[in-house]
Amino acid sequence: MLSKCRWWRDAVIYQVYVRSFLDSTGDGIGDLAGVRAGLPYLKKLGVDGIWLSPFYPSPQHDHGYDVADYCGVDPLFGDLAEFDLLMAAARRLGVKVLLDIVPNHCSSEHPWFQEALASAPGSAARARFHFADGRGPDGAEPPNNWHSMFGGPAWSRVTEADGRPGQWYLHMFAPEQPDWNWRNQEVGAEFDRVLRFWLDRGIDGFRIDVAAGLFKHPQLPDSDDPEADARTRDSVNPLAWNQPEVHDVWRHWRTVCEQYTARDGRERLLVGEVSVPSAREHAKYVRPDELHQAFFFDLLSAPWDADAFRKVITEAMQDIAGTGSTVTWVLNNHDQVRTVTRYGEPATGCSGLGAARARAAALLMLALPGAAYIYQGEELGLPEVVDLPDDVLTDPIFRRTGSRARIRDGCRVPLPWSGQASPFGFTSGAESARPWLPQPSYFAEYATDRALADTRSFWHLYRDGLQLRAALPQLGEGTLDWLDAPPGVLGFVRGDGLVCAVNFGTAPTPAPVPGTPLLSSGPCPAGVLPGSTAAWWMSDL
Ligand code: GLC
Repeated sequence: MLSKCRWWRDAVIYQVYVRSFLDSTGDGIGDLAGVRAGLPYLKKLGVDGIWLSPFYPSPQHDHGYDVADYCGVDPLFGDLAEFDLLMAAARRLGVKVLLDIVPNHCSSEHPWFQEALASAPGSAARARFHFADGRGPDGAEPPNNWHSMFGGPAWSRVTEADGRPGQWYLHMFAPEQPDWNWRNQEVGAEFDRVLRFWLDRGIDGFRIDVAAGLFKHPQLPDSDDPEADARTRDSVNPLAWNQPEVHDVWRHWRTVCEQYTARDGRERLLVGEVSVPSAREHAKYVRPDELHQAFFFDLLSAPWDADAFRKVITEAMQDIAGTGSTVTWVLNNHDQVRTVTRYGEPATGCSGLGAARARAAALLMLALPGAAYIYQGEELGLPEVVDLPDDVLTDPIFRRTGSRARIRDGCRVPLPWSGQASPFGFTSGAESARPWLPQPSYFAEYATDRALADTRSFWHLYRDGLQLRAALPQLGEGTLDWLDAPPGVLGFVRGDGLVCAVNFGTAPTPAPVPGTPLLSSGPCPAGVLPGSTAAWWMSDL
């Protein structure tokens, strides 16, 4: 039996999307000093740690997921001295800090890519990336038919030193994000240096971007799904993702973390963004000598439906927890439509429905065995901002596909902290300071100062849930036993009698078993579970 002191096995981590959290300089963009100022708020909420979205020097074509220097801080967000202050403050408060590391690709401004562009075809500098000759007359066609996740071909053509159109390079995301060639040993060695650079600065671990990426099929053959358009899940092209060699990298990174633990007993955490076709495939990433955690996105993609949720949870418990690992649950992040909007049914004209369901889903997630991640603003019940005007949209997906449907700006709008009008305390600059994405006037209702003052707010639900999770031994790591429940209701027991039940329907239903109420996502008369509501109680049985 693995010991409970492995803190990450049931940790709750808060994702800080730095540019939208809190702006200390008045330029309309959140920064590291803002994160430091917000730490007491997060401590009060009760999370174990934070994951910081990328703040490294970057031209920001994909908001920092295009890294030009893996060991620095972009002046937009501060500097290394400010980073050290943030670390020290987090350490004092007992809040763990994870950094976002992006090993699948870098920025086209990265010095090694610039060197590759300036070097000849076949050079050592080009071998660190995927450069290849084109097909067809004059090599004018891309080397294969792969699509970028952000739309369009996964290849761009370069101009050689003599001014003529030349080779192509691979980018599974935007052209400004060339993919590293992990079959080249210099790449792995460079990432070792990066890991140690930050681990030496005291961080508690890494969130690994596109962790099923890195290796591509060695021959880069055509995909037999040439029609596959850009999709936001990276399980699409089996030749570009989830290659067996990637597991060796995670085994190696795990040994690097263990070396640090051996020195001071502090366990470092690796959490992977792993999008693969099945829970069984997912489980391979969290074998005991690989990643500690991997986001399990199936809950996030499940429709609001009891059977769909039960299927996802059952598979995760069997295929992931069943191997000795824990499941890492997530309902929201910076790439997805927020739950309040996702679960809403605008057609019914019932605007509170999405919020009620999102509250219920939160209690469900916090009751499940394993770890959980909360995305900033989730604890405020922020809805997706669905009506941003085209001229403010910055997501490269919009630029490359022209599609508003899949854009990710709507969940990245800067947080409201206080006051009645934008910038709602987000920026400490002049009243006229403008957040990098416009905040709608209705954000006033969601500001943190109001949320803290109102015990019926989302914030109190999350805070109470987190407090109970920390206090009750039944919650966190472990197993669950399903209860018999009517159609549309899920109920399960944790440990010796802690019950969580969720009514996915809209009509009230009797509570599956009698007991003493602990917490509910909405008003809950004794013995009844109203529609779109979740409740925790201690069973009398
Ligand atoms: C991950 C990130 C996303 C980013 C992409 C490319 O999916 O979560 O925001 O655009 O990787 O780095």
